[in-house]
Amino acid sequence: MALLEVKNVNRSFGGVQAVNEVSFAINEGEIVGLIGPNGAGKTTMMNLISGLIPVEKGKIYFEGHPITGLKPHSIARKGIARTFQIVKPFQGMTVRENVMIGALFRSDNLSRNQINNIVNETMALLELDSKSEAPVEELSLAQRKHLELARAMAMEPKLLLLDEVMAGLNLKEIEKLMQLIRRLNERKITILVIEHVMKAVMGLSNRILVMHYGSLIAEGTPEEISMDPRVIEAYLGKRRKKGFHREVRH
Ligand SMILES: Nc1ncnc2c1ncn2[C@@H]1O[C@H](COP(=O)(O)OP(=O)(O)OP(=O)(O)O)[C@@H](O)[C@H]1O
Ligand SMILES: [Mg+2]
Repeated sequence: MALLEVKNVNRSFGGVQAVNEVSFAINEGEIVGLIGPNGAGKTTMMNLISGLIPVEKGKIYFEGHPITGLKPHSIARKGIARTFQIVKPFQGMTVRENVMIGALFRSDNLSRNQINNIVNETMALLELDSKSEAPVEELSLAQRKHLELARAMAMEPKLLLLDEVMAGLNLKEIEKLMQLIRRLNERKITILVIEHVMKAVMGLSNRILVMHYGSLIAEGTPEEISMDPRVIEAYLGKRRKKGFHREVRH
């Protein structure tokens, strides 16, 4: 049984079919990449899975049970956590307090001790210990991304949805974050990553899904995807195809 199953899901905004009859499954333990040009419908797909916006037509199953129509907090408590394309830590709070919100959100009946343990472990995992008491305003962009991951991980999810966590980072920071994401995966977290940084998504993913104009146009290993003419066409249109290969290989 798949951990997550998306079946013929649709969502439109006015006249725009943002997600069009999309079906895919994610198995436990996988890292799956979700790529596609700007406006392809990737974030909308993530918003539908996490319940932020309602599905118009189709079904989404988590661990075999339908989650379509549930509120975001119910979906989160079932074990799906996410990050946002625009990082938004709670201002005026410390790093530690921000991570604690994730842990508190998870369940009503954890003891203070249990919460502290989750928070400490999560901050160590995302290498934020030294910043624990810092106000979030003092964090660099890369550190804010680590915090965003820590907040999601403190919910102890089974499935983690990451929306462009690499955006704006330099090469060294990207490599660090890739290493941390692999570490989360080693802890049995299944991960769906939306990413424009090809080096990261190709390097991390076992399998890649490609969206274009709301539809799923290809699915395969990073190697298969980087050679797929439909994908190359979607990314480059009439531009030279060589450019895409240069981008995915480096
Ligand atoms: N809340 C909304 N209201 C109206 N239109 C929306 C809304 N959210 C998304 N759209 C439209 O749906 C389409 C898909 O947008 P979406 O944000 O899912 O794309 P994306 O693949 O995440 O793009 P990007 O790579 O730029 O983040 C776009 O045409 C977008 O303008
Ligand atoms: Mg997006």
